[in-house]
Amino acid sequence: MKPLIIANWKMNPTSQDEAERMIIETERLESEGCEVVLCPPFVFLNKTTILKNVKVGAQNCSFDDAGPFTGEISPKMLKEMGVDYVILGHSERRSSFNEDDDIIHRKVKQALRNGLSVILCVGETEKEREEGKTDNVLQRQLAKFNSNLIVAYEPVWAIGSGRSCDPKTAEKARLLIEKIAKPKRVIYGGSVNSSNAGDYISSFSGLLVGGSSLDIIEFGKILKVVQGV
Ligand code: PGA
Repeated sequence: MKPLIIANWKMNPTSQDEAERMIIETERLESEGCEVVLCPPFVFLNKTTILKNVKVGAQNCSFDDAGPFTGEISPKMLKEMGVDYVILGHSERRSSFNEDDDIIHRKVKQALRNGLSVILCVGETEKEREEGKTDNVLQRQLAKFNSNLIVAYEPVWAIGSGRSCDPKTAEKARLLIEKIAKPKRVIYGGSVNSSNAGDYISSFSGLLVGGSSLDIIEFGKILKVVQGV
């Protein structure tokens, strides 16, 4: 199984031209030894048709296929346009858009029904870790799920903070996640860069990369580390 490396561009970049340039540059990176999935904002998905070496994912989707849901994008629409993956339950969706475990569960079910591969993000906040609640949080976030998911362990305090999680601590979380949900894979996310990618890839079968995936040279370096080249 090749390592799975997800590029989560979040709400970046802000122009079609910039997105096109970044998509082309990502396609050109050396990636034979891993599976790269690019998750740009919805409005740039139509630019990804040029991709051959890189698969395409979305950063979110609705819990229904069609209907009166203003502003939403459905998993059926994504599948129909050639998208293979979707990130669900990201901590930014949980905290800034009030997505709870119930909504996330509905979204995951609908995405799977439409044949999308789901990357479900889980992870504790700093406060929850300090209070010793990490295990409970992971149990709760994974309670309703079974084996057909890719789970991304993303400790919330490590996301976008430059404070990556100690690899041993991350490994403990991985073992627990595997026990609870028996996922297809467990990947790590949270301030991944080319200097720490090697620490995680030895125990996780992939990485979810945010900020560092916007810098295509740095993202290329991460891919090199992962492929051992
Ligand atoms: P980061 O983001 O790499 O910028 O920490 C990871 C993520 O949120 O998926």
